[in-house]
Amino acid sequence: MAPPRVFKNYINGEWVPSGSGLTFDNINPANQSELVGLFQKSNRQDVENAIQAAKDAYKTWRVTPAPKRGEVLFRAASLLVERKETYAEQMTCEMGKILEETRGDVQEAIDMTYYMAGEGRRLFGQTTTSELPNKFCMWVRSPIGVCSLVTPWNFPMAIPSWKVMPALICGNTLVIKPASDTPLSTYNLVQTLVDAGVPRGVVNLVTGSGFEVGTALVVHDDVRVVSFTGSTEVGRKVAEACAGSFKHCCLEMGGKNIIMVMEDANLDLAVDGAIWGGFGTTGQRCTASSRVAVHKDVYHEFVEKFVARARALKVGNGLDPAVQVGPLINENQLKTVEEYVEIGKDEGAKLLCGGERLADGDYDAGWFYSPTIFGDCKPEMRICREEIFGPVVSVIPCESLEEAIEIGNGVVYGLSSSIYTRNVNRAFQAMRDMETGIFYVNAPTIGAETHLPFGGTKQTGNGHREAATTALDFYSDWKSVYVDYSDKLQRAQIDT
Ligand code: UN1
Repeated sequence: MAPPRVFKNYINGEWVPSGSGLTFDNINPANQSELVGLFQKSNRQDVENAIQAAKDAYKTWRVTPAPKRGEVLFRAASLLVERKETYAEQMTCEMGKILEETRGDVQEAIDMTYYMAGEGRRLFGQTTTSELPNKFCMWVRSPIGVCSLVTPWNFPMAIPSWKVMPALICGNTLVIKPASDTPLSTYNLVQTLVDAGVPRGVVNLVTGSGFEVGTALVVHDDVRVVSFTGSTEVGRKVAEACAGSFKHCCLEMGGKNIIMVMEDANLDLAVDGAIWGGFGTTGQRCTASSRVAVHKDVYHEFVEKFVARARALKVGNGLDPAVQVGPLINENQLKTVEEYVEIGKDEGAKLLCGGERLADGDYDAGWFYSPTIFGDCKPEMRICREEIFGPVVSVIPCESLEEAIEIGNGVVYGLSSSIYTRNVNRAFQAMRDMETGIFYVNAPTIGAETHLPFGGTKQTGNGHREAATTALDFYSDWKSVYVDYSDKLQRAQIDT
């Protein structure tokens, strides 16, 4: 057997090993005996080196014309197009989700890269009038400095691209630390930028633990911007670490998203949506449709169809084209799912299907769990309030749209929600009243596109939005500029 491939950090334009001399394993969640590769177990000195490189490179990158920065991104996007299939396969091997979905993940990175490349010729500011004669006023975007980016394992190329591309087009330099379960896809993204000609020091990759590498990245004085996607618990610590030195801090955290199915809905369409939203990515999306509130008039019919479809889902290795649901990411995540299923049973929810670890035959080597549906749930149950991040959906009967909205909003999170109805008035009422950052009509809670703002309210986020032009607002500072061409002193608010 060939020895496993060793992947290095990328610091100051070089692929380098960690000073620690240590590595960690990246293993396939569908087959634990398959080692995807060895990655650097980096230490604080590696982080220090990467931040220093980013700080040095910032001096020239910030004044590189934005359309030129955009050209690097255009080249990277077309390389990603060429490499899409290879990168998708590698992502399935490290993350587990099915090939169709990993192709989608790479595609999302392609979309974001082209989109931000185009922003190089926009990055619009505004001009406005002055209250004084012979004075010109405008506000322009300016870059901020070194960014630390800490990314999750569930979208291992797409989410890094949401952070890397807007940071770069705005003229910042960066250090990225991918999740230790899925470093290869971020490595591939960085490799692509390197091949596209990104200058030395502008992009740096440091792999390793959140405790060692993540903390060092977030607290460093030379870092001005921190963007984190992950749990609400860790996000709170990141916010606290940023507060002392007033770093720009963007947090994307948990969700407990709801699909509301009204009695006038196209029920088959709603079932399609609940299956895709609930069990796509094995339920491991922050936007996953983990709750479904169904009007009592159609409750039994909906549940019957939903359960039949969930039972028929084929679970397995995501490289097999017949498989619809891959494994969970790791043993811990599987244990969390098992715990919540027990909690659901104890709370009196009705287990309608699934609820078991799959461990026989081919399943033996991976972290597989059967698609699980709880019925007759009450909104106050923990399985209806807490994020599980696995293939578990709670179905809650309700009496009206108003009640569905109340249930939907009755959680600490506010990422995504959706309604299935044929009544436009109801759709707009729900759109107005749902407290989520993303809202869908006649579609599940997943499926965000890169040119619309992505993020949530309440404990899902801290008021920022990723993607779209809103990402530019996070990765740049506004500079207000007054040009006085009167050749005399003019005092605002006084010489009027
Ligand atoms: C996530 O839910 O973790 O909207 C990210 C979606 C994807 C991104 C999801 N485009 O479902």
